[in-house]
Amino acid sequence: MTDVASSRPFVVAIDGPAAAGKGTLALRLAEALGLPHLDTGLLYRAIGKLMAERGFDLDDAALATQFAEALDPEDLKRGDLRGREAGELASKVAVHPGVRAALVDFQRTFAARAPGAVLDGRDIGTVICPDADVKIFVTASPEVRARRRTDELLAKGRDVRYEAILAETRERDERDSNRAVAPLKPAADAVVLDTSALDRDGAFAAATAIVEKKREATSKGA
Ligand code: DC
Repeated sequence: MTDVASSRPFVVAIDGPAAAGKGTLALRLAEALGLPHLDTGLLYRAIGKLMAERGFDLDDAALATQFAEALDPEDLKRGDLRGREAGELASKVAVHPGVRAALVDFQRTFAARAPGAVLDGRDIGTVICPDADVKIFVTASPEVRARRRTDELLAKGRDVRYEAILAETRERDERDSNRAVAPLKPAADAVVLDTSALDRDGAFAAATAIVEKKREATSKGA
């Protein structure tokens, strides 16, 4: 795939549930397109972590909003944001409308800089970048996602059980999909990419084909 070289920022929105492989996919696409990548889950993870380590109640919407408003991009570089625990904390603070509102500008500014960007999250195609050039909703069955996550953790030597991870995956889907503000759902114009039967290379090839098709259509329409 060739680099993006155009005067208008080229924005790729990747959304989907936890452990669908969207992070890896977004990173690979960004590299192939020569665009910066923002993992927007890190914003919510950092807020959850900062609050939890100070012993604050994650259900306190006003306090969580203050943390979101004060978030420093340096906080995203913490080394402890990628794990399951931070993911759970993130999902809890992400339900607060004030938290989400406080993070909009940072994400939109990131997307608006030339030559564009790849952003991944839950509401990129629906709320943050509704005009994104390409929207991909990456998903897989809860069983497949739980199996992948279990295997990943076992490979790291962690003592985990598939059934527990499956229950956790379902619980997170439930919270992310049923919150009142910006729930997880594909944008009307998103292409749904089900990776249940695909490995990482297969998912990347399918996503690349989606991007290329969109770019062709855009250049013909221009
Ligand atoms: O993508 P992730 O697993 O790092 O996200 C962690 C949690 O953060 C996720 O369960 C919900 C929340 N999140 C969100 O609400 N909106 C986003 N754009 C990204 C993440």
